[in-house]
Amino acid sequence: MPDWDKIFKEKGYVFVDPHQDMSRLVTLFHTHGVRRILDLGCGTGRHLAFLSQVGFEVSGFDSSSTALELAMKWLKEEGLRADVHLGRMEEPFPYHDGFFDAVVSIQVIHHNLMNDILATISEIERVLKIGGYIFITVPTLGPKPEKAEDDWKLHQIEKGTFIPQSGPESGIPHHYFTEDELHKVFINFQILEMYVDDTNHRCVLATKKS
Ligand SMILES: C[S@@+](CC[C@H](N)C(=O)[O-])C[C@H]1O[C@@H](n2cnc3c(N)ncnc32)[C@H](O)[C@@H]1O
Repeated sequence: MPDWDKIFKEKGYVFVDPHQDMSRLVTLFHTHGVRRILDLGCGTGRHLAFLSQVGFEVSGFDSSSTALELAMKWLKEEGLRADVHLGRMEEPFPYHDGFFDAVVSIQVIHHNLMNDILATISEIERVLKIGGYIFITVPTLGPKPEKAEDDWKLHQIEKGTFIPQSGPESGIPHHYFTEDELHKVFINFQILEMYVDDTNHRCVLATKKS
């Protein structure tokens, strides 16, 4: 079955520029004493490099060994550091409770069935300290799901979760969160901002409640 590892093997660095709001987040994180950041589903490292460059201690976690090799190559070339782990986000993360001051995850957590997504969110919560930040982005579907991403031939496998039957991400599950659902799954977080970015991804900026 196709997966992100295959995409990275074929295409290399698919994402290069950081998310449009990363600079703003850096200012927020610096203002609030953030030191350690986990990039969950770090891919080939665009945010590891960006965040390491501005002085954070960064860790990357991803299920694609190809992505992690490319990320390490990028970091090495730039003289930057990050701790990276290969693993699946629906399984326990290899970090202690409350280890991170912030977790960023750009276009990642939706790649699963809802039960597995809930396991991921519970792990995010566990490894984040109280008051720590999350910045998470997930794709949106328009009011007519059958029209969105038409060419992907989305096949629904549970409520809100689809597997594209064609296109570059065919075979990879995509859960399309509603705004309501995001409020529900992040119930243990204080939502500071929820908005749709320029690439049609819904962004959640929140802090972990005590
Ligand atoms: C759309 S890419 C985004 C990569 C990166 N966050 C970025 O913004 O450049 C999705 C990433 O999620 C990772 N991923 C997908 N399913 C995963 C899983 N079950 N566990 C860990 N990582 C996963 C993929 O390997 C890929 O790197």
